[in-house]
Amino acid sequence: MDCRPIIEKLRKEQDAQMEELRYLLEHLDEESSAYLRAAAAEEAVRHFGRKIYLRGLIEFTNYCKNDCLYCGIRRGNQNAVRYRLTLSQIMECCKMGYELGYRTFVLQGGEDAYFNDERMCEIIRSIKKEYPDCAVTLSLGERSEESYRVMHKAGADRYLLREETSVPEHYAMLHPKQMSLENRLHCLEILKETGYQTGCGFMVGSPGWQLEYLARELCYIKKLRPHMIGIGPFIPHKDTVFAKETGGSLDLTLNLVAMLRLMNPNAMIPATTAVGTIDPRGREKAILSGANVVMPNLSPVSVRKNYMLYDNKLCTGDEAAECRKCLDARIRSIGYEIVTDRGDYREF
Ligand code: 5AD
Ligand code: FES
Repeated sequence: MDCRPIIEKLRKEQDAQMEELRYLLEHLDEESSAYLRAAAAEEAVRHFGRKIYLRGLIEFTNYCKNDCLYCGIRRGNQNAVRYRLTLSQIMECCKMGYELGYRTFVLQGGEDAYFNDERMCEIIRSIKKEYPDCAVTLSLGERSEESYRVMHKAGADRYLLREETSVPEHYAMLHPKQMSLENRLHCLEILKETGYQTGCGFMVGSPGWQLEYLARELCYIKKLRPHMIGIGPFIPHKDTVFAKETGGSLDLTLNLVAMLRLMNPNAMIPATTAVGTIDPRGREKAILSGANVVMPNLSPVSVRKNYMLYDNKLCTGDEAAECRKCLDARIRSIGYEIVTDRGDYREF
C-alpha cells in the first residue's frame, strides 16, 4: 500500500478507516508528509482564504486542584509561584488586546475553586459589556453542567477542553486516578449541548503514546465534531514526574494537524504555542499544514513566567502582545494575513 490513496481519500471523503489512519501515521515519509501538509493547507485556504484568526490568551490563574502528571502548574508542584489576576487586571489585558485588534479573549486557568460561577460570571459580563463585539472563550477545565450553563448565559461563547487522549489506558498513564476520562468526555458533550463553540485536543507524543492511540484519537475527534481542535507536542517540565521523558516530535505534530484539517475541514485549528516552542518557525509550519488560528499571550508580562505548563514555554518577544507587528510580519512572510474579526466557527 501507498500513502497517496489514503491522503486522497481523506481529501475527498474527510474520513478513512482507523487502520488506514494508522497506516498513514506509520508510513508517512518526507515526500508523502509534504504532500499531505500541502493538501491540508489547500483545504484550509479553500474554506478560510489566506486568513489567520487571532485569539488573545489571558492566563488568569495558575492555581489548580488537579495533579496531571505532565503539567507544570499541577497542584503538587511546590516550585510553582501561584498567582491570580484581579478583575481589573483582566480588563486591562482586554483593553490592551482590543487596541491591538484582538476580538476574541481566551480566559485560561487551572481548576481554581476561587473562580466560582459568581466570580466567573462577573468577569464574563464585564468583558462583554465593555467589548460587545468580542467573543469570550473559556478554558477552565471540568466544571458542573450548571456552571457551564450559567457562564454561557452570562455571555461566554466558546470553551476549550482538551481531552488529552480518549484512550482509557493512555488517560490513566497521564492522570492520577481521581481524574476520570469518562467525566472529561461527558463535559465535552455537555459543552456542545449547552451551545458553546467547543474545542477539544491533545498533546502529541505524551508519555505512553502509540500510533494506534493517535489513530483512535483522530476517529474520536471526527465523531465529536468539535468546532475547534488544539494540538501541540508534549514538552517535559522539570518539576514533573515526566521531566526525563522525550518530547513529542514536530513532524508528527504537523502531520496530525494536516490529517485533522482534512478530516474536519470547518474546524478552527490553532498553530499552538507548544509547536512554536519546539521550533522557532513551528507556528508558520503549522499554518502551512492547515492551521488557521494563532493565540498570542495577552497576560501581564510579570506573571507569564509563572504559567509554565512546560519548560521554555514561549513567553517573551514575538509571543508578547506588544509584538503584534512581528507576528504580522511572520504570517505575511508565508503569504497569509492576520485578520481581526471574531472568527466564529461556520459550516461551509
Ligand atoms: N507539554 C505540552 N503541553 C502541555 N499542556 C499541559 N502540560 C503540557 C506539557 N508538559 C497542555 C495540555 C493542556 C493545555 C492547556 O496545555 O494539553 O490542555
Ligand atoms: Fe491542572 Fe491538569 S494540572 S488540570
